[in-house]
Amino acid sequence: MLHKKLKPFPKDFLWGASTSAYQVEGANLEDGKGPSCQDVKVIPEGTSDLKICADHYHHYKEDVALMAEMGFKSYRFSISWSRILPKGIGEINQKGIDFYNNLINECLKYQIEPIVTMFHFDMPALLDKKGSWSKRESIDWFLEYARVLFENFGDRVKYWLTINEQNMLTLVGPTIGTLIVPENTTNLTKEIYQQNHHQLVAQAKAMALCHEMLPDAKIGPAPNIGLVYPASCKPEDILAAQNYNAIRNWLYLDMAVYGVYNNLVWAYLEEHDACPEFGEGDEEALKNGHPDFIGFNYYTTSTAEESDGTEEIDPGADQQSDRGEAGVYKGYHNPHLMKTEFGWEIDPVGFRNTMREMYSRYHLPMLVTENGLGAYDTLTDDGKIHDPYRIKYLQEHIKQIQLSITDGVEMMGYNPWSAIDLISTHEGMKKRYGFIYVDRDEFDLKTLKRYRKDSFYWYKKVIKTNGEDLTND
Ligand code: BG6
Repeated sequence: MLHKKLKPFPKDFLWGASTSAYQVEGANLEDGKGPSCQDVKVIPEGTSDLKICADHYHHYKEDVALMAEMGFKSYRFSISWSRILPKGIGEINQKGIDFYNNLINECLKYQIEPIVTMFHFDMPALLDKKGSWSKRESIDWFLEYARVLFENFGDRVKYWLTINEQNMLTLVGPTIGTLIVPENTTNLTKEIYQQNHHQLVAQAKAMALCHEMLPDAKIGPAPNIGLVYPASCKPEDILAAQNYNAIRNWLYLDMAVYGVYNNLVWAYLEEHDACPEFGEGDEEALKNGHPDFIGFNYYTTSTAEESDGTEEIDPGADQQSDRGEAGVYKGYHNPHLMKTEFGWEIDPVGFRNTMREMYSRYHLPMLVTENGLGAYDTLTDDGKIHDPYRIKYLQEHIKQIQLSITDGVEMMGYNPWSAIDLISTHEGMKKRYGFIYVDRDEFDLKTLKRYRKDSFYWYKKVIKTNGEDLTND
């Protein structure tokens, strides 16, 4: 649809950016923090460990001041479960509570709304030892943790996100370093979807608990949603795209919003003898979840063609890989899209396609919790980082938000990845996303000094004009 006149961004639009605890904080075993699965995983070869990261734990004041200088209205960060509860359950680490109190207060000092992700890929290692999400008790563990968060931070945090990219935990857990598979597992698909089920129930119960304890707060999920296109108008390709859309995207949102399993996913699970077992009260709990909004991460779309029955899932696939699954769909390289230096397709129009589709399915306000470009950045001798490629990527995506708003989609905010350089899930420090450059390399910690990238100044102007001026002069 071509619009002659674009609607403006809402006045209270939450312009900001995102990070996650294990990728940005460092201080990974400091001040009483227990190890998380990220601290004990095998670090991919050639990439940094997660001990120091951007050292946000010690630099948070400076970092939040820089965010305030950009004019941020929101900062989306995650709380590290094992910083709060070092063993995952039981004893609370007061120093962990103090850190997040300080971070939240620092944001509020500058009128930056904290948007808190409760769980971002970092299961406490001691809970992993107990079986992680494969155990039904994981629902109770998560609720205990949720209660501690709501009790300690709920007086100031108005926006909560439950589980970051649960769909990626389920689809590409090993790449992210999160999947625990119990010995004697004979049907891996069943095991994975049973874990997924526990997460879905935990999420629904946490949303209900939030509404009970914090009636003024808003809570929602944060999956990675990117529409799946059919490779052609061949009817079989449309079926393939529907299959992958259901498995990758709609399962998570149908469940969060309506509390039911998507029928195509259920059929897929039946086919694999992998239907999760429902515990007592699960059905009711899932129906009682009710998010207030949908948070979602968008990086790109996918494309699917009819499966020829031979596709094997690549065990090294990541969040945006064009893979495939026999009998379900075959991954297809979209010839209309360029790729980033790290091989992810770039599809700003697909962002609009995705937002339109999501809104017409769920009719809930939507908050972009991630979007961004991972690239190699260079610090020049005079302390500059010229990143026009990032500005271009963000410009084109923000334009599509405005078009979606004009399409009638309710958008609450934009929090791209990432506020500051941090460690990627599996591609190290060299894959940078931030507006703020951190002076360190993959293995050399250097000065850890912060520098403003060109995109920093550009985003500042975007926020100041509430998205009216996206130019880069
Ligand atoms: C999302 C995650 O998948 O994408 C982030 O929520 C992640 O944790 C981001 O860092 C970018 O992915 P990557 O693999 O480039 O770090």
